[in-house]
Formats: sequence, structure tokens, C-alpha cells
Amino acid sequence: MRPPVGATTVTGVNSVVSPATPQAIVRAGALLRTGRLVAFPTETVYGLGGDATTDRAVAAIFAAKGRPRFNPLIVHVPGLAEAETLAVFNEPARRAAARFWPGPLSLVLPRQPAAGLSLLASAGLDTVAIRVPAHPVAQALLREADRPVAAPSANRSGRVSATEPAHVAEDFGDNVALILDDGPTLVGLESTVLDLSSDTPALLRPGAITLEALTELMGPMAPPGSGRARSPGMLASHYAPRLPVRLAATKARPREALLAFGPDAPPGFAEVLWLSRSGDVAEAAANLFAMLRRLDRPSFAGIAVMPIPEHGLGSAINDRLRRAAAPREIPPVE
Ligand code: TXA
Ligand code: MG
Repeated sequence: MRPPVGATTVTGVNSVVSPATPQAIVRAGALLRTGRLVAFPTETVYGLGGDATTDRAVAAIFAAKGRPRFNPLIVHVPGLAEAETLAVFNEPARRAAARFWPGPLSLVLPRQPAAGLSLLASAGLDTVAIRVPAHPVAQALLREADRPVAAPSANRSGRVSATEPAHVAEDFGDNVALILDDGPTLVGLESTVLDLSSDTPALLRPGAITLEALTELMGPMAPPGSGRARSPGMLASHYAPRLPVRLAATKARPREALLAFGPDAPPGFAEVLWLSRSGDVAEAAANLFAMLRRLDRPSFAGIAVMPIPEHGLGSAINDRLRRAAAPREIPPVE
């Protein structure tokens, strides 16, 4: 990967750290628009940003983080107007936004079907987590990018969140096109995640906006650890197809549809969609949720999936598919 022209500091393996000057922010916006990953400061932690409307960019985020599974990501926008094009705002959501945005609060809301958001960004869910960060560099970058930006904390999976650009450089080497450096972050802890997608508000992740502050504004809510507030890593409400899912399929069964991987699909399936003809796990990840949805129709008896290799994003795909294929009493929803 070639460092963008004008980058001032090169740290680690080709990883590019640049002071967050206006010029660097313009360059970062352009990189995001072409599907590249950019790390940027927010008031909470550094984020690893990618175009939230492009499955390939979102798949690249998961690949860079080395996440063993697809957790839904927070989608960042510069203000409420942009947020309202992506999610359905009810009255409580408007109240929370009016009080705490811009700031360290992410709201989980029903996704606008026509929003054009990558299904992978919200891990196939019908909801989306939206955040309007207050950090001036994040604000400027989001306006420059001119599209919603999916950004998990900029650390590799299993490591602590990055609060300094050097942490990001250590973790990502050349997997990120540019790191906008604005020094250490202020809050140092990820945003509060508040689920307003159903009747009782639920605190999914405590953060800088406290439970007390939220309760004062929103009334009682399901606290962390209660049935409603699912810990994000084990989110039960991950999209599961209505049809049974069968893994590692090598032969067709009657009226089954197939998700194929690699150049050759076994014959006899009612319909075949290719996760990746070339056997590219990142391409397969980008296609996974959209294709599962397309095949989840009553005219089929089930969805079969060809074997997916357990490397790179393949492990996350298999994790997701194993859960989709598990007996249906498993998801401990509510
Ligand atoms: O402070 C932050 O929020 C940072 C900065 C970069 O903005 N971002 C961050 O993102 O912490 P991430 O991906 O590391 O955490 C996203 C959290 C996870 O706990 C995830 O499960 C939850 O938000 N989340 C995202 N979408 C969700 C959804 N649709 N429903 C429920 N939880 C969701
Ligand atoms: Mg994180």
C-alpha cells in the first residue's frame, strides 16, 4: 500500500500517521469515498472508519480488526439530519439526540429500509446504532466523506480500545490507509449504547453518558445485564433466516437454495447465489447477509451453504452461519 502523498510520519509497517490538518482530512474523506479505511479521533476513542454504504469496505473493517464474529458496528454521521435518513426516530430518540448529540451516545434504532446501509455493518439486524461524535476532527471528516462511516474502536479484536494514534499504528500496520492524529482522546472509553428500538429503553453498553443522566431524561430503563439489555458480543437478535440453514453442503436436497463458494456449485439446487466465485472470504463476507435475506423465501425448503474455509473472515462467516443453523430455541431473545 503506498502512503498517501503528503503524509508526514510513517510508523510501523507502512502505517501512515498524519496530523489531522484540514488537508489531511480532505485526503481522508477521499480515501473513505473510494472504500479505503481511515482511523480518526473521536472524543471517546479512535475509530477505524469505512464507508457504511459499501459491503466491501465494511468487510475490510472486520478483516483488519480480526474479529472472530460479525458484531454490528456503530454508524457515524455529522448531525441529526443525516441520522434521520438512516434510522427511524421516535419521540424518545429525538429527546436523547437533542440533549446528548453531538457527544458520546450511540442510539440503536430501526434502520430505514431505503438508507442504503451495508447489511454487514449492522450484522444483518433491522436496527442500526448511530452516533454523532462531538470531536471537531471527526465532525470535519464525516462532512468531508459525505456518507455514513462505520467505525468500531480502532484496535484489533481482543485488545483494548485505542486512545492514541500510536496504538492504532501498532495494531493495524498497513491495513489502514491513513491515521488522523489529534493526540490522545478525551474520554478514553467507548460511547454509551442506548437501545430505543423497542418500548422500554435499554442500556446496552455503559459509557460517558451515565445511566443516571439517561434515566433522568428518558425514565426507567432496562439496566445492563437485565434480560432486555443484551451484551453486544452475544447479541441474540442477530438476523436469523426463517428457513433452516444447512452447513458444509455438498449435495442438493429437494427445493433447497444454495449459497455457493468457489468456482463450482453442486447441481440440483432450486437457486444458487455465489458468495464468492473466486473463493475470496472478504467478498463472501460482504455478500453474506444480503444473500441470506434474498434466499429466505417460503418457496424454498431451506438454505444450504457450501463449506467456507476457516481462515481470515472465513471464521467470522462460519461463526455466523453456525448460529443461523443452530436449533431455534437457542437465541435467548428477551
Ligand atoms: O465510542 C465509540 O462508540 C467508538 C467510537 C469509534 O465511536 N466506537 C465503538 O464501536 O466502540 P464498536 O464497534 O467497538 O462498538 C459497537 C457497539 C457494540 O457493543 C455493538 O454490539 C453495539 O455497539 N451495536 C452496534 N449496532 C448495534 C445494534 N444494531 N444493536 C445493538 N447493539 C449494537
Ligand atoms: Mg470495540
